[in-house]
Amino acid sequence: MERLELLTPIIQAPMAGIATDIWLPHFTDTDGKVLFLPSYGAGYMQGSAVASKVKVYAQSASVFNFNLFIPSWGINKKNSTQKHQLDGLWQYLSPYYKALGVAQPEIPYLDIKGLFWDQLDVLLEHKIPVFSFTFGRLPKKHIEAFKRNGTFIIGSAVSIRGAQQLIEDGCDAIVLQSPCAGGHLSLFEGETIADLTFTVVELIRSARLEEWDVPCIAAGGIRNAEEVETLFKLGVSAIQLGTSFLACRSSGLPTNYLNTVSSKNTANSVLTSVVSGRMARTVENRLYQIMLDYYKKNKTNFPPYPWPHLLTASLRAAAMKNNDVEHIAAWCGINDEKLPDYDFNNIAERMLNFRSDQQRNPI
Ligand SMILES: Cc1cc2nc3c(=O)[nH]c(=O)nc-3n(C[C@H](O)[C@H](O)[C@H](O)COP(=O)(O)O)c2cc1C
Repeated sequence: MERLELLTPIIQAPMAGIATDIWLPHFTDTDGKVLFLPSYGAGYMQGSAVASKVKVYAQSASVFNFNLFIPSWGINKKNSTQKHQLDGLWQYLSPYYKALGVAQPEIPYLDIKGLFWDQLDVLLEHKIPVFSFTFGRLPKKHIEAFKRNGTFIIGSAVSIRGAQQLIEDGCDAIVLQSPCAGGHLSLFEGETIADLTFTVVELIRSARLEEWDVPCIAAGGIRNAEEVETLFKLGVSAIQLGTSFLACRSSGLPTNYLNTVSSKNTANSVLTSVVSGRMARTVENRLYQIMLDYYKKNKTNFPPYPWPHLLTASLRAAAMKNNDVEHIAAWCGINDEKLPDYDFNNIAERMLNFRSDQQRNPI
């Protein structure tokens, strides 16, 4: 990997809500060189917390990536959500909070754009080596501000059209994410899952990377070396893995979630927006059913992102602590097979079975 000087073309996916900072010691070799690009999903954090986390990364790795969620530019703060939508879901969730013995706090109001600008300021101020974002486009002037700092910028898209827009905006590399991916999809405003190309290999093939001027990073459901070899032959420059890192023995995930992300889930893995308000892939669990039931009866009054996420936050946090996989956002990519027992030091050998000279346009 040229510009980022990674020892392998593997990016650990940013995963907001997962304490990926504890993985850092596994990501460098004895000379301090970085094996996998460490990423931190900071999309849910206050600016001050982002600043503390950046310091941790800067002390541990020569290169690292921080990732944010682009807010919906089209929705303004005032008319984005109506109070009765929030009250409705809040009351509906009350018995579930009680049943789990979790105190239901006041409705946590949040200025999502304000939060984003705070986070962005922090990342600009700290001149981080790599910045990535998802859920849409970042205005060009901010991309240029990162570039002036020497930051490498990665945008994320699920469609070729989205990828082209990000290239036009000036991104240095693009994550092209298939809908087999765990967690949120980088759908742009107006895009729906009906438009998506399902497998990562099909998606990358349709992208015709030989015509691209910037490196493409493939993501979403990548599970074995054969797939990776095909992706590199099609011209990708790196792969971004989420579920495969979560499934590592030392990932620190509560055992039941760890077992869930490792399990064969082709039959019970769903793309849904009912859990957070944005389209994401989860394993069907009790929280998904609870939110789906409410959605079915309240389609027109279902509050948009980030409210379902915010209104379930305390419930999910308690469940995560209690190893209760039924009441967390059980984000997980599609696994056609149960994943074997492995750890961080097995990832490169599991995934990489190609010669480095086959790599086009390294990042
Ligand atoms: C638990 C979880 C949280 C995620 N959070 C983020 C995030 O904060 N930002 C982001 O760009 N992608 C996020 N993703 C998507 C990943 O970046 C990546 O596209 C996905 O994990 C790749 O698919 P895979 O899980 O099948 O490897 C998340 C994925 C998971 C599993």
